[in-house]
Amino acid sequence: MTGDEIREKFLSYFERNGHKRVHSSPLLPANDPTLLFVNAGMNQFKDVFLGNETRDYKRAVTAQKCIRAGGKHNDLDEVGKTARHQTFFEMLGNFSFGDYFKEDAIKFAWELMLDEFKLPLDRLWFTYFEGDDEVPADTEARDLWIKMGAAPDRVLPFGRKDNFWQMADVGPCGPNTEISYYMGDDPGDPEKNSAYWVNGPGDTTIEFWNLVFMQYNRTQNDDGSFSLTHLPAPSVDTGMGLERITTIMQHVTTNYETDLLRPLVEFAASLA
Ligand code: ALA
Repeated sequence: MTGDEIREKFLSYFERNGHKRVHSSPLLPANDPTLLFVNAGMNQFKDVFLGNETRDYKRAVTAQKCIRAGGKHNDLDEVGKTARHQTFFEMLGNFSFGDYFKEDAIKFAWELMLDEFKLPLDRLWFTYFEGDDEVPADTEARDLWIKMGAAPDRVLPFGRKDNFWQMADVGPCGPNTEISYYMGDDPGDPEKNSAYWVNGPGDTTIEFWNLVFMQYNRTQNDDGSFSLTHLPAPSVDTGMGLERITTIMQHVTTNYETDLLRPLVEFAASLA
């Protein structure tokens, strides 16, 4: 599949499942002083999550242009060092605004990965929030992956850095569950296709889809401290890196070898 076909498969899968196809917003966020550039698909829906705005749909799907070259989500220092980071990229995402929650988000993700993209289950790893003083462990997400068919030893707990997502210092946020893919040559070798590489060094296993269970709003108090309050309704915000899933599907080793980016590299090379 080409990168364009992969993008379309994602959008049409969620459209068939009741999601409104919404255009990518411009890279400069409208009316949001907390953000310099759009850094995630959910930005254009921030006020919907917060309950300050309603739309005539409760489910949406987008392919959002994003820049992560500063601020809370800054990939700049990783670019050129890993196989999977870019400053500008496209994020595929499905959203629920107080409609479905964890169970359906996980079911949709499972069906898309296994039945539509036909990803081999023995290369997939799943992570969930292990809990801390502020937010409890998301064992519900763990149990749902296992119920869908994931092997229990491939569903791993991680802390705030990997499994709690917020777009900026303030704003909607929640625990998340991520899906990673073993990129190596030996999926049958438990030493190589192992938990060690999940959120570990290098690109042996890459995270390619993040499912955020939006439940809270983080706000800043007058004394500078931060508080967490509940959103009006539990919601879903997901983000899959288009270039990463294309790397996986095209059996190449870096984003820059996909048909999305390789022509740009070749064009620059021809000029040089
Ligand atoms: N908003 C989530 C992210 O950017 C999906 O990872």
